[in-house]
Amino acid sequence: MRKIVIAGNWKMHKNLDEVYSFCKAIKEPLMNKKFDRVLPILAPSFAFLSILKDELQDTALQVAAQDVSCHNDGAFTGEVSANMLASLGLNYSIVGHSECRNHHNDSNEVVREKLLKLMDNGIKPILCIGESLAQRDKGETGQVIMEQLEGCLRDVTLYTASDLMIAYEPIWAIGTGRTASGEQAQEVHRLIRKWLADTYKDQLADELCILYGGSVKPSNLAGLLSMPDIDGGLIGGASLDANKYLKMIDIALEHSK
Ligand code: 13P
Repeated sequence: MRKIVIAGNWKMHKNLDEVYSFCKAIKEPLMNKKFDRVLPILAPSFAFLSILKDELQDTALQVAAQDVSCHNDGAFTGEVSANMLASLGLNYSIVGHSECRNHHNDSNEVVREKLLKLMDNGIKPILCIGESLAQRDKGETGQVIMEQLEGCLRDVTLYTASDLMIAYEPIWAIGTGRTASGEQAQEVHRLIRKWLADTYKDQLADELCILYGGSVKPSNLAGLLSMPDIDGGLIGGASLDANKYLKMIDIALEHSK
């Protein structure tokens, strides 16, 4: 049975005080919940990874990085290596987010390099893929998704389904308030699962978590989770608010019963 993942991507939001007050607000509620089938994740900026990890260490929450360098180490000012992340005890990192693809020109090949560095260091990548509005309008969604999967996972060995998560994030739905409908997202999630079955094994495809991202919020989460191939959310804006984040966890817990 796949887990339901509620992963918050804080992007470049929250300073130190804001991080502390968010942790204070969610710590006790998290400790009072039972997380058998639900996995809460938060991805703060690099600067606050350790703080979040320390503050929430007694909870079920997993702390994730938002990105990683494609290099092992060396003269790469401003970059953070997978080995550094692993040394903090992190188990997850987002990779291939459309904002990194757009702002830093991360190609599928670079995303693949980053993903391999994470895996080499025992960190599970949350691989983001998704089409632009122009690509969707031209009917190219399926082709773009396949190219991203093939490019980012070329010759990547997956031993079990828990080695990787995939997040389908249509770029036109990120930060726009325009969510893909459950049916629109489901269609792409099904395609991703089929590609996984064709490329790896049926069992791996059945067990791998595929998250949806793009204007997910408490009011639309239940509808998305009711789709057979949607296993949670990668959530930007709504994860910045402690009450909304907890509400989305409650929705996932309810759905997991
Ligand atoms: P929003 O939830 O703010 O649309 O952001 C989605 C996202 O990019 C998560 O990685």
